[in-house]
Amino acid sequence: MKTAITELFGIEHPIIQGGMHFVGFAELAAAVSNAGGLGIITGLTQKTPELLAKEIARCRDMTDKPFGVNLTFLPAFSAPPYPEYIAAIVEGGVKAVETAGRSPEQYMPALKAAGIKVIHKCTSVRHSLKAERIGCDAVSVDGFECGGHPGEDDIPNMILLPRAAEELKIPFVASGGMADGRSLVAALSLGAAGMNMGTRFIATKEAPVHQNVKNALVAATELDTRLIMRSLRNTERVLKNANVDRLLEIEREKGDKLTIDDIHDQVAGVYPRIMLDGQMDAGAWSCGMVAGLIHDIPSCKELVDRIMSEAETIIRGRLMGFLDGTGATRKVA
Ligand SMILES: Cc1cc2nc3c(=O)[nH]c(=O)nc-3n(C[C@H](O)[C@H](O)[C@H](O)COP(=O)(O)O)c2cc1C
Repeated sequence: MKTAITELFGIEHPIIQGGMHFVGFAELAAAVSNAGGLGIITGLTQKTPELLAKEIARCRDMTDKPFGVNLTFLPAFSAPPYPEYIAAIVEGGVKAVETAGRSPEQYMPALKAAGIKVIHKCTSVRHSLKAERIGCDAVSVDGFECGGHPGEDDIPNMILLPRAAEELKIPFVASGGMADGRSLVAALSLGAAGMNMGTRFIATKEAPVHQNVKNALVAATELDTRLIMRSLRNTERVLKNANVDRLLEIEREKGDKLTIDDIHDQVAGVYPRIMLDGQMDAGAWSCGMVAGLIHDIPSCKELVDRIMSEAETIIRGRLMGFLDGTGATRKVA
C-alpha cells in the first residue's frame, strides 16, 4: 500500500508507532520498523541527550530500516535541554521526528536544516493548521479516544479526521483508537494517509515492558479508561486502577482548587514502577479506549502483517462487494 505517509518516511506500510514514555525504547522501535512501519524512540525517556544518542545507536544495530524519535515539548518550568536532544537526533542520522505537546516552532529550523521530516501530534484542527503553517511535513491527528493527552476539545476521530481532511494540505495519520485493519481502512476513508498506534503496540512481544502491563491491556475493556487532570487542563486518558480511583477522589474533593501537588503521589515518577516492575496499581499510566480491541500479544511483525492483510480483505472483499452486489451478507472479522 502506497500513501503520502509511506512515501514521506520511506516505509512499507502506513503504520506509525507513537512515542510512549518508558515503552518506546530501541527494542520496540526497531521491531516496528523491521515490520515495515515507522518505529519511534521516546526521546525524553532517555534522561540525557547522551543516553538518547546511545539509544539511537542501539536501535540502528537492530534495524537498517527508517525509524524516528519522539520529542515531547512539556509545559515544564525547567525545560529539558531540547537543543542538545535535537543534536543527538541529527548526529544519530535519524530522519524522522514526531513532535508533541507544545508547538515545535522554535526548533523547526534546526530540524529542517538536518533534512528531518517532522510529524507533529495534534488534538485539534487549529493546532494541525498551525503545524502546517510552521513547516511540519505531516501531522498525527489524535482523537478523544487516544491514550495519553487528548487535549480539551473532546472531539472523537469520526469527526476530527474528516475535519482535518477538509482543512489540511499536508498529509496526516489518524491516531487514537487504532488497532487493526478495520481501523486502517476507516482512517483512510476519513482522509488520513495512514495510522498511528500507541496502546496497541504495548501489547506486543517486543514491547520492553513488564508482562503484567501487556496482560492488563488484554484484560481491559473499552470501559476501563478514565480521564484525569481535567481541571488542570492537562487531561490524560489512563487505565483505571486503585491509585487512579484515589486520584479521582482527590479531584472530586478539591474541585477547582486542585493543584498538581495534590496528586503528586499518583502521577509523579510512576512510569518505571509500572512499565518496568509491573506494579499495576503504582499510579496513573496512559492507555487508550482501544484496550477494548486488544485480545492478544502478537509480535510486531504478526500485528502489522495482520493489519495489512485485513485491510486488503476489507477493501477488496467487503467494500468492493457492496459495489458489485456480492457483499450484502459478508461480515467483517
Ligand atoms: C503508555 C503511553 C505513554 C505515552 N507517552 C507519550 C509521550 O511520552 N509522548 C507523546 O507524544 N505521546 C505519548 N503517548 C501517546 C501515543 O504516542 C499516541 O499518540 C496514543 O497512544 C494514540 O492513541 P492510542 O493509544 O489509542 O493508540 C503515550 C501513550 C501511551 C499509551
